[in-house]
Amino acid sequence: MNEKKIKLTSIKIALLGDSQVGKTAICQVLKDNKFDDKIISTIGYDKIDKQFKLENGSDIKVVIFDTAGQERFRAAALQTVRHVHGLVIVFDLTKRLTFDNVDGWLEIVKENFQQPSMVLFGNKSDLPKEEWKVTEQEIKNAEEKYKLKYFETSAKSNKNLNEGFSYIVNSAYSKLKGNENLTIDLNDKQEQKSGCFGKKKKTTNKNKKKNSK
Ligand code: GTP
Repeated sequence: MNEKKIKLTSIKIALLGDSQVGKTAICQVLKDNKFDDKIISTIGYDKIDKQFKLENGSDIKVVIFDTAGQERFRAAALQTVRHVHGLVIVFDLTKRLTFDNVDGWLEIVKENFQQPSMVLFGNKSDLPKEEWKVTEQEIKNAEEKYKLKYFETSAKSNKNLNEGFSYIVNSAYSKLKGNENLTIDLNDKQEQKSGCFGKKKKTTNKNKKKNSK
């Protein structure tokens, strides 16, 4: 048995979900409190750092990975984020296929991750309800079927982002606390750069690969 414990100084969370559901917008709002209408598609992944408060009052550094939803960039992104402690699965309330594809994302999680904490975000809730393509009952059923806590979010109006992230950060932390191979050092002040490893390619709406309608 490995007697040396691994020191953990941050919680790592990744956003997964179809292209265009708003993963990058969510990261940008969390980081800079700014919503951008013209976001370019993610290639590979980006990451940001953000401080969150745990339920016990301590601050903890959270590294949030924004992954590419487009299928052709997926494998590389998944390879990088496979050791995260928590996952946010995002769908777009106004794009039915992105909700139907949650099932597929959970299969991908099963194949690539080791039982991370998870949460489900239905994003773009600022858009008129007439445009929503998923009913409340269907979401309730999904919560029960997948045993996932659900948050109705909007990056545009900054709805439930902090609440949803606080939930996943606290869930991941509680799970990690029970791992005897880890020590969690919340006071480690070592600077970690925020920024991106993956690059974003400028795409227009015309040539963006749409995997959701
Ligand atoms: P990929 O990088 O291709 O995986 O896409 P993504 O999931 O990161 O989506 P992105 O954040 O690039 O957002 C796609 C589009 O939806 C952009 O035009 C955003 O401005 C818009 N968008 C994102 N979140 C919201 C939201 O909460 N409400 C509304 N109305 N639009 C949003």
